[in-house]
Amino acid sequence: MSTTLISGGTVVTAEGASVMDVLIDGERIVALLAPGSVPVTADATIDATGKYVIPGGVDVHTHMELPFGGTNASDTFETGTIAAAWGGTTTIVDFAVQRTGERVQDGLDAWHAKADGNCAIDYGFHMILGGIDDDSLKAMDSLVAHEGITSFKLFMAYPGVFYSDDGQILRAMQQAAANGATIMMHAENGTAIDVLVAQALARGESDPVNHGITRPVAMEEEATFRAIKLAEVAGAPLYIVHMSARQAVERVAEARNAGANVFGETCPQYLYLNLEDHLGAPGFEGAKYVCSTPLRSKHEHHQKDLWRFLRTNDLQVVSTDHCPFCFKEQKELGVGNFSAIPNGIGSVEHRMDLLFQGVVDGELSLSRWVETCSTTPARMFGLYPRKGTLVPGADADVVIYDPNATTTIGVETHHMNLDYSAYEGTTVQGGVDTVLSRGTVIKRGNEFIGRAGHGRYLRRDLSGYLL
Ligand code: URP
Ligand code: ZN
Ligand code: ZN
Repeated sequence: MSTTLISGGTVVTAEGASVMDVLIDGERIVALLAPGSVPVTADATIDATGKYVIPGGVDVHTHMELPFGGTNASDTFETGTIAAAWGGTTTIVDFAVQRTGERVQDGLDAWHAKADGNCAIDYGFHMILGGIDDDSLKAMDSLVAHEGITSFKLFMAYPGVFYSDDGQILRAMQQAAANGATIMMHAENGTAIDVLVAQALARGESDPVNHGITRPVAMEEEATFRAIKLAEVAGAPLYIVHMSARQAVERVAEARNAGANVFGETCPQYLYLNLEDHLGAPGFEGAKYVCSTPLRSKHEHHQKDLWRFLRTNDLQVVSTDHCPFCFKEQKELGVGNFSAIPNGIGSVEHRMDLLFQGVVDGELSLSRWVETCSTTPARMFGLYPRKGTLVPGADADVVIYDPNATTTIGVETHHMNLDYSAYEGTTVQGGVDTVLSRGTVIKRGNEFIGRAGHGRYLRRDLSGYLL
């Protein structure tokens, strides 16, 4: 096995930052050393002087090739994981799908078939349950026990697609309470939203901005509260995905303060993009920003509060909810009818950079950046300490990050299979210099030197946050 020494960089973990050398043997980290403390010879040395050395990013919410809204998310496991690697993410947890009427195991097998041999970085799966019945409840136990799938996403939104009613949700939560899994919730009141959508369309209000107007904050807050109460009754751990509304996070914070195993995630789009300027852009341009939960009004202080919630650990994780649909032919399915625009934004490549802006702007400490983007997601979903930190024994998934670089985001330079960028022309401070996945350099400077097929499937343990 060959050894690599990353020397002279500032190692940043959730615990703090200090100048250290990182010694890698084969696929694992074997030592962190004070520079010069012991003589070290390695087969290769990477000079990280003046740069941060951080655990690779862990994005626990992606949708590669998701069939949705009459089309498929445009990144394959190959294109999406290569783009992730470019942006300093070395692990994804994607959502396998069980559709109504389908066996859970068949949905999972289909997802393995898409990913197997195609990923450039390591990957795991959550399971979307689109049809909760006796068989799928039993299958939850089997996935936890045998497949390394310890989290299940349910939807209070999208009636007729992935939607579960409260009784189904309660049953799945009871099953999770017994088998130790975490329930991930898309918390929006989908049946009420469908009424608002139909009414808006009947009034002739068909532009993309109506996607946001018909999904008001109250519908996210109400569903979040209902999910928390159902989880309380069932005794199940609950993780609310893609949170955008301040009021909804306040419900999570209350539950946490009362000692409940309730967690929350937000995404870069909710920290940077808004209803008026983006979803409300002229013509059909706003379609680029259609996602659910929707972008919120810039006049309601959501973004400032989401940053605060990240600081105060009322929100624990930043994922991307990477679900890219090209503008041409995919988003365009909704010309003249906002409700037919496929929901999703692609940003798997830019999460680490966008969140580093929080450090630059004084919203997050360096350690909290690493914690929310890498350490906590790994621990939340049973991958820690193999992923999400730099300690002897951990996988050598390491990012050398240059705080003095600048990165301009745009369709000409990104690597996602997406014909637009939600952040077109945005220049951010900082940039990913070098990326190692299990000890192999897969990205160096302006070169990707990894390969599809390097990434391995990760069987996950139960959440590391539960007693
Ligand atoms: O708009 C979104 N979020 N699309 C992906 C599917 C989901 O609900 O996560
Ligand atoms: Zn969702
Ligand atoms: Zn999603």
